[in-house]
Amino acid sequence: MIIDGKQIAKQLRISIADQVAMLDRKPGLAVILVGDDPASAVYVRNKDNACKEVGFYSEKINKPEDITQAELLAEIERLNKDDKIDGILVQLPLPSHIDANQVVETINPNKDVDGFHSENIGKLMQNKPYLRPCTPKGVMTMLATTGVDLVGKNCVVVGASNIVGRPMAMELLNARATVTICNSKTTDLSAKIRQADVLVVAVGIPKLIQGDWIKAGAIIIDVGINRLDDGSLVGDVDFALAKDKAAWITPVPGGVGPMTIATLLENTLTAYNTIEEK
Ligand code: GUN
Repeated sequence: MIIDGKQIAKQLRISIADQVAMLDRKPGLAVILVGDDPASAVYVRNKDNACKEVGFYSEKINKPEDITQAELLAEIERLNKDDKIDGILVQLPLPSHIDANQVVETINPNKDVDGFHSENIGKLMQNKPYLRPCTPKGVMTMLATTGVDLVGKNCVVVGASNIVGRPMAMELLNARATVTICNSKTTDLSAKIRQADVLVVAVGIPKLIQGDWIKAGAIIIDVGINRLDDGSLVGDVDFALAKDKAAWITPVPGGVGPMTIATLLENTLTAYNTIEEK
């Protein structure tokens, strides 16, 4: 069966919009884009549109490629103090002259709707999560819709990035699964994949995961978004073959992608509620 991320994300947005309609002040999200990378520009536009759809206040802030580190940090400090803004997101990657880590650490952890600040990652590691990285959290929402109990399941995460692989592994561990994290140096990847009751792949290599590696009845979550020369979008898993072995699988596009943005809105509402309660 297909895990319909587009549909699950839509339901999530409807639920968020219903909650926003009852609030006196609109939750506010600021999204900063540095430079003009076309893919990043599309992501930022989608985030801004999603905010409008659920009734958030949103600020899309475009900064030139040659912005200095100090100027970017000053912009974040301004947003940290802005009462209209509950969530701050700096689109990654940043130009190489910018220290991305320092940028992330400058965001007020209570406005860190990406969940990338060391304080929020530390809380996730300690199984005391607060603001959680959007893609892994969105994947947990998708897994919940299958009704499959994750306790004791063999979960394999392929990819060890700070944005997806590492926090994804922690989410699954927090759900009391047994977790294997693979990276680009993993030997005999196919043998690890064959053991996976749940497979999450986030590497950005088209068809890295072959269909005949998939364990019968597995749940397959494909985070990859790769554009082929013919213009089509494909994931990291050979979908055509994998879908016949898996019990559940996410499509690309229309799988994890929409969930990441809906989860960003969910995190912004969480940050708003924390600020309003104080
Ligand atoms: N670039 C790719 N994914 C993400 C994300 O989830 N958040 C941010 N800020 N940048 C990204």
